[in-house]
Amino acid sequence: MSEKTRNRKWEHIQACIKKDVNFRSKKTGFEDVELIHRAIPRFNFNEIDISVDFAGKTLKAPLMINAITGGHEKALKINEILGETAEKHGIAMQVGSQRAALEDPSLVSTYSIAREKAPTTVLVGNLGGAQFAMEYGIEEAKNAIKMIKADALAIHLNYLQECVQEEGNKVSKGLYDKLKTLKSALSTPLIVKETGCGISVEEAGDLNDIGIDYIDVSGAGGTSWAAVEFHRALDKKQPLLANLAKTYWDWGIPTAISIVECSGGPARIIASGGIRTGLEVAKAISLGADLVGISLPFLNLVQDKDPNKIHQYVETLIIELKTAMFLINSKNLEELKSANLIIRGNTAEWLSFRGFEVKKFAHRQRIALPEEKNKK
Ligand SMILES: Cc1cc2nc3c(=O)[nH]c(=O)nc-3n(C[C@H](O)[C@H](O)[C@H](O)COP(=O)(O)O)c2cc1C
Repeated sequence: MSEKTRNRKWEHIQACIKKDVNFRSKKTGFEDVELIHRAIPRFNFNEIDISVDFAGKTLKAPLMINAITGGHEKALKINEILGETAEKHGIAMQVGSQRAALEDPSLVSTYSIAREKAPTTVLVGNLGGAQFAMEYGIEEAKNAIKMIKADALAIHLNYLQECVQEEGNKVSKGLYDKLKTLKSALSTPLIVKETGCGISVEEAGDLNDIGIDYIDVSGAGGTSWAAVEFHRALDKKQPLLANLAKTYWDWGIPTAISIVECSGGPARIIASGGIRTGLEVAKAISLGADLVGISLPFLNLVQDKDPNKIHQYVETLIIELKTAMFLINSKNLEELKSANLIIRGNTAEWLSFRGFEVKKFAHRQRIALPEEKNKK
């Protein structure tokens, strides 16, 4: 891998740590979602079960440290800490794009360190869809899986980023057929993931048609890759690209909406993009996700001087999730998925325009209205 590409990876990390790379005016949509308080939960808090099956293993909590890095000397330490964190808490981890190590095998350890530190939990590999559209095939996918003994392989879609970066690769013709080929050739589960722009019902339908196992919506409202590229373009004094990236800073389908758009088919749903609290994890699962991925907060926590902070964050997510479940009377994740909830505001408007029946979420579990009760 060229020095230039390696530096680019590091510039991305630096921009994410030092600059504001969050969506500005667009939010995730979870602010429009309300879970309904139940004053008398029918079980005790300590009976709540948040374990979930993912890629052939059972996680202790429905959480994944989502794709961040690899392929740079400094990425080794990051993946070491992330791997340790995933293993300690029994949650999943996904490495960043493995393209760097496919091109330069001396970089393999910057990814495989994650498997060393996370020998038993789910570890997910990652390669870019644009590379598959151009040149990659089954061999590259198999090598990426072997490199980290991956339990699943994610193919990421990042065409907004490709559009707004100098080195961008705007080739996508043929990618869908490649995904079909990969799905029939690999026994390892396949994830197709976005990187902050969300996935629509149209794409979800096509991905279901070819049997993709998991769709990670990675929607709008969290890390904006147009923002990351905006900062890079400013630093490099490239006004045209900086303006283009600024225009598209807030582009994409909000995460909460994308979960609903993608749910309902055979592919299981991973929710990511701006999910920061355990209450948002609960809302994401209640909207239809099986699992939640989080990236930027974990990258920031790896930099923290206090090594306990990252563990405290995972523990906070878990206790916040369980608190929501207790207060809505959902004993496990299946019950959480069918809990009643209210969707209002922009999220309700968007979903209604797209033909989704928003009101049905409010009475998925039967409500006995007062007049019905009185008849008894
Ligand atoms: C520094 C950084 C590097 C990333 N690199 C990758 C990558 O290599 N492959 C990928 O699929 N996603 C990558 N992502 C995208 C995330 O996995 C995720 O889809 C996106 O950041 C939205 O989630 P968030 O709001 O929790 O950060 C990266 C994110 C960050 C912050």
